[in-house]
Amino acid sequence: MKLLAGVDIGGTKCAVSLGKLNGSGGIDIVVKVKMATPPSPEAAIEQLIQALEDVASQHPEGQLAAVGISCGGPLDSRRGLILSPPNLPGWDAVDIVTPFTGRFGVPAALQNDANACALAEWNWGAGQGCRNMIFLTFGTGMGAGLILNGALYAGTNDMAGEVGHMRLEPAGPVGYGKAGSFEGFCSGGGIAQLAQHMARRALDAGDRPSFCQTYEELPLLSAENVGRAAELGDPLAQDIYRLSARKLGQTLAVLVDVLNPEKIVIGSIYGRQKAIMEPYMRAELERESLPLSLSVCEVVQAGLGEAIGDYASLSVALNDLIEKGEDV
Ligand code: BGC
Ligand code: NA
Repeated sequence: MKLLAGVDIGGTKCAVSLGKLNGSGGIDIVVKVKMATPPSPEAAIEQLIQALEDVASQHPEGQLAAVGISCGGPLDSRRGLILSPPNLPGWDAVDIVTPFTGRFGVPAALQNDANACALAEWNWGAGQGCRNMIFLTFGTGMGAGLILNGALYAGTNDMAGEVGHMRLEPAGPVGYGKAGSFEGFCSGGGIAQLAQHMARRALDAGDRPSFCQTYEELPLLSAENVGRAAELGDPLAQDIYRLSARKLGQTLAVLVDVLNPEKIVIGSIYGRQKAIMEPYMRAELERESLPLSLSVCEVVQAGLGEAIGDYASLSVALNDLIEKGEDV
């Protein structure tokens, strides 16, 4: 039995998983272990390899066939280097692939996290059967993975799909990129900043939003707690998500016009707040995109839901084997 390994490297958390292809095109996750992201790249590599050794040794019935690694950009997939992602300070041109191929003696591949999620949705989620689809992370950060003409399109140097950095307004929330960027308006960190800005204004005006009654609470605001307040009907929290939704629609219109996809799949926060966001996203998208392009494009939430991260790095391993012509 062939096993695939997945390694996710995030700013706060990392994970290692094993998946087993189940013969009918699907994959079963055998085991997944999470850890806080170790403080240095050296420590991270050591602990991730150790974790993978541990889980692999618990499954001697399977033969490890490939390792897929997923991480935020920028990175160099050809040379297997994590360049210097803003969410991983101190990581600079870190060779992540060689230690895994060296230790496990199987192919290992590195891919941008959004690209990895796009592959996962394409293989096993809402993008199944599509020739042209776009995946948007809308999580801690905002990145896109592009499946074009039936293949992952990573760009000339792995920089395709860096939509989060596009500036939509001269000023505004920052995300990891620039003020007023798409990631500023549409990411967990960006929404928290937007909420701080708008809640401060409300407090200055003598209002007490349900999700932030005092100035002391401002630094504690997160996309999650504002999202819960929005669901419970707090008007300011709803305004925050509506603004984010309009910026989402505005950007989707550009993607629809430029790439003419048949599907756009959106992860994480969009899935959680779809009831509030969808009408505002939709109105903007319809106003701004070319009707003929939009007529063939469906916008949906991730089919793998919150589990998408569990499948993303495994799909990198699978995609790598397929590209190398190995049977899977
Ligand atoms: C990075 C992308 C990444 C996205 C989601 C952005 O800040 O530039 O490479 O895909 O965050 O993690
Ligand atoms: Na990407």
